[in-house]
Amino acid sequence: MFEHAQLTAWIDEKVTLCQPDKVVICDGTTEEYNKMWGLLMAAGVATKLNEEKRPNSYLVRSDPADVARVESRTFICADKQEEAGPTNNWTHPDEMRKTLTGLFEGCMRGRTMYVIPFSMGPVGSPIAHIGIEITDSPYVVTNMHLMTRVGQAVLDELGTDGEFVPCIHSVGVPLIEGTSDVPWPCNPENLYIAHFPTTREIWSFGSGYGGNALLGKKCFALRIASAMARDEGWLAEHMLILKMTNPEGASHYVAGAFPSACGKTNLAMLVPTIPGWTVETVGDDICWMKFGDDGRLYAINPEAGFFGVAPGTSMNSNPNAMLSLEKNCIFTNVALTDDGDVWWEEMTKTPPSHLVDWKGNDWTLDSPEPAAHPNSRFTVSAAQCPVIANEWEDLKGVPISAILFGGRRATVVPLVNEASSWTQGTFFGSIVSSEKTAAAAGTIGELRRDPMAMLPFCGYNMGDYWNHWINIGGQEGVNLPKIYYVNWFRKNNSGEFMWPGFGENSRVLKWIFERCEGTADANVTPIGNLPTLDSLDLEGLDVSAEDIAELLRVEVEGWLAEVPMIEDYFKEFGDRLPKTLSEELASLKSNLLQGS
Ligand code: OXD
Ligand code: MN
Repeated sequence: MFEHAQLTAWIDEKVTLCQPDKVVICDGTTEEYNKMWGLLMAAGVATKLNEEKRPNSYLVRSDPADVARVESRTFICADKQEEAGPTNNWTHPDEMRKTLTGLFEGCMRGRTMYVIPFSMGPVGSPIAHIGIEITDSPYVVTNMHLMTRVGQAVLDELGTDGEFVPCIHSVGVPLIEGTSDVPWPCNPENLYIAHFPTTREIWSFGSGYGGNALLGKKCFALRIASAMARDEGWLAEHMLILKMTNPEGASHYVAGAFPSACGKTNLAMLVPTIPGWTVETVGDDICWMKFGDDGRLYAINPEAGFFGVAPGTSMNSNPNAMLSLEKNCIFTNVALTDDGDVWWEEMTKTPPSHLVDWKGNDWTLDSPEPAAHPNSRFTVSAAQCPVIANEWEDLKGVPISAILFGGRRATVVPLVNEASSWTQGTFFGSIVSSEKTAAAAGTIGELRRDPMAMLPFCGYNMGDYWNHWINIGGQEGVNLPKIYYVNWFRKNNSGEFMWPGFGENSRVLKWIFERCEGTADANVTPIGNLPTLDSLDLEGLDVSAEDIAELLRVEVEGWLAEVPMIEDYFKEFGDRLPKTLSEELASLKSNLLQGS
């Protein structure tokens, strides 16, 4: 079937197991893309949008039971439980293989098996890696076309013995003779998203949605890639990548890790409010970094598209995303307007008076439920973003000057602080957290720790992952990015946001840029280096002097109250916790107590 013996053997084995009616090797062409849409429309799951409003775009409605990533059914099948660590679900690989083999047996009867050769990253980049996804979902094929590079170029790159990550996916609903198909087949009672980091394989069964089914994204580019990166000395991170350019034309590339739903896509496409500065996008979700010959970390966006949350996206919050979505898009679980276009909550100030909601029901202004599912998505090629950086597909990647870590914190964490070292930066990354609910100002809310925004995405023991970060920084001859802890979400005593966010975040980026250039001042504090009042560009900003002072204050009491919480959190990792991180915590505490 292929010139690659190992690939042929793997496909043969899976054909025998899954028993599809037909096997199609995907070539990534427009013809293939259109053919998939023909099938999806015939199946009644896809609607073509009004060609005049939204050319070459489709709306898909999933089964209401299959609408999001399912972390409780996501497994890291390392040989020993402690290899997966306390933050992952674990099952022994032999046991999982047995379960999955049982489920996959005959699961594609009556269906077509699609074999998708895809590259994560520009084909031929030394930072990129190749995967092959087998799926029985034409919807997955269409999304993979936009989210990855698919086709013959990938097989050429693979040659006869290149490495690939085998990814097998089934919606888990065989069409046994006589049964007719449903629009969105899925099998939520038997859901498994299983990763085998030792053998670098992914098996996904029962869901057709997003990160459960588009296996190049979270499964490969984060969970499996993080384990590959550990073994090979690089970093696979849940980070956006942006390029910032000053009025003189100098540029820096910045990567940023933020938990889901903290505005990563908005930051990646930000429109600066400070005159003369520009921000361009390299990636909005995932970043792979390897060292270049000059000792710097070079990053690629392994994805080729954006799979973004639609609700909340508007010309106000993210005009560049809206402009990216004008044509050639896939929308999943958003609402349909009467003139054949899409709508979601907050897209416009006033909703249309009538819509068809994400479940296919009539929706009016009195309807109690949102018209679009809160996790409804757009899929679009990154090339359509009006501010995509020219170099976004550079094979060598872009050199990263700064890394941001951020969570959603109403209290304690200042607007921005710069780690004084790579290890302190790693420590900041390890304690990133978001309030589960908006905490009352002045108190500490219930926190969900999401270290490096990798909680659901780290493919091995989180303690080992932190250790890997420390080792990355400890090598001879490296020229590391500076690390920053940012927080756009501070609230005042009345519960209002103190910082306007969105385009105004460019002021913080400017300070970071100038720190990288060595031209901005900072106050050295127990929690790192904070901007001096003069070094942060506040020209034309409508925020009171009190609020700015508060945003840049070291809340000694608040931080001290957090120390025991961090100690407890770190205990969960037992002897896998790097000693360096306990030392960072101890020195944070003593510096806070000394007020130095
Ligand atoms: C995503 C996520 O979909 O982080 O990007 O959940
Ligand atoms: Mn994400």
